[in-house]
Amino acid sequence: MTQRFSFSLHAKDGAARAGLISTPRGEIRTPAFMPVGTAATVKAMMPESVAATGADILLGNTYHLMLRPGAERIDRLGGLHKFMNWDKPILTDSGGFQVMSLADLRKLTEEGVAFRSHVDGSKHMLTPERSMEIQRLLGSDIVMAFDECPALPAEESVVAESMRLSMRWAQRSRDAFGDRPGHALFGIMQGGVTRALREESAVALKAIGFEGYAVGGLAVGEGQEAMFGVLDYAPGMLPEDRPRYLMGVGKPDDIVGAVKRGIDMMDCVLPSRSGRTGQAWTRRGQVNIKNARHADDPRPLDEQCTCPACRNYSRAYLHHVFRSGEIISSMLLTWHNLHYYQDLMQGLRDAISAGEFNAFEADFHAQRAAGDI
Ligand code: GUN
Ligand code: ZN
Repeated sequence: MTQRFSFSLHAKDGAARAGLISTPRGEIRTPAFMPVGTAATVKAMMPESVAATGADILLGNTYHLMLRPGAERIDRLGGLHKFMNWDKPILTDSGGFQVMSLADLRKLTEEGVAFRSHVDGSKHMLTPERSMEIQRLLGSDIVMAFDECPALPAEESVVAESMRLSMRWAQRSRDAFGDRPGHALFGIMQGGVTRALREESAVALKAIGFEGYAVGGLAVGEGQEAMFGVLDYAPGMLPEDRPRYLMGVGKPDDIVGAVKRGIDMMDCVLPSRSGRTGQAWTRRGQVNIKNARHADDPRPLDEQCTCPACRNYSRAYLHHVFRSGEIISSMLLTWHNLHYYQDLMQGLRDAISAGEFNAFEADFHAQRAAGDI
């Protein structure tokens, strides 16, 4: 293994950062948006199309893949990259967070979490050690520490106990991960919306030492204002020279606000999921393609977008195929949404490099305020 995992910062504008993560499977330009490929597919997209939108890295899920088709099976078939035909980097989430939101009959202990599969009711146990093993079997390039987090609002004592458990699991994750050149382990900061708990979590994670640090436990019901409140201080508690990943975020305006506050990586199902429900994201804001106003509209979804949905099809067509329940509707809207998100990331990277973040942000909000054409 020649190429190791590394991160370099190229530019800063206020708290916003532009940089590059290098891995043996390729480079990740930051700030980066990671499309979600939960079940070894970004739904409605061929992997080469996901790459064509500009994505450098995908997110996969320990929880879903361990249940179906199983981590040992994916390993026997050559690993997740080969299995799903994606040769660029993959980050995998560690499973605890998904167990808490998706699984049945959960039992949380110091050891880990026992649960029943939401797919077939079968019994399973996830621990830091098993999560590290599964993510190794998958061949994940960026492995997430095993954690859990309560939905907000929650009692501060509940958030504190949960955070401390996650920090003990973070140490066990580090120990179980071992020495794997070219692969990275990221710790996950918890602590809800309480500054002292965020600080305690950051101190614990830095003492263990990780290749990157995630801010977890946000976008779990607290609202954008409270989330930005935490992001005003949380990234600054983490090492300057390591990537910072905000988990499960978000809408385009969440992304701009998070990058402004020093976040380097994000993931969210929103662009792919909303593509399947007829929601498009454009520089003019959200467009609901099922609305009758599009039925006779020969114009593209977004005049400035270079994606196939906008270059080759009218709003009238996108409206028709959505209303008809045609599969191409999900394909085209997902492609557009992922392309829009990646365009936004490129715009943010360019603006930071040019020292023009504030102008970019003002223009971003002005275009949305103008509304859809
Ligand atoms: N996805 C969104 N938030 C979280 C979090 O706090 N932890 C993990 N593991 N995944 C997440
Ligand atoms: Zn488009």
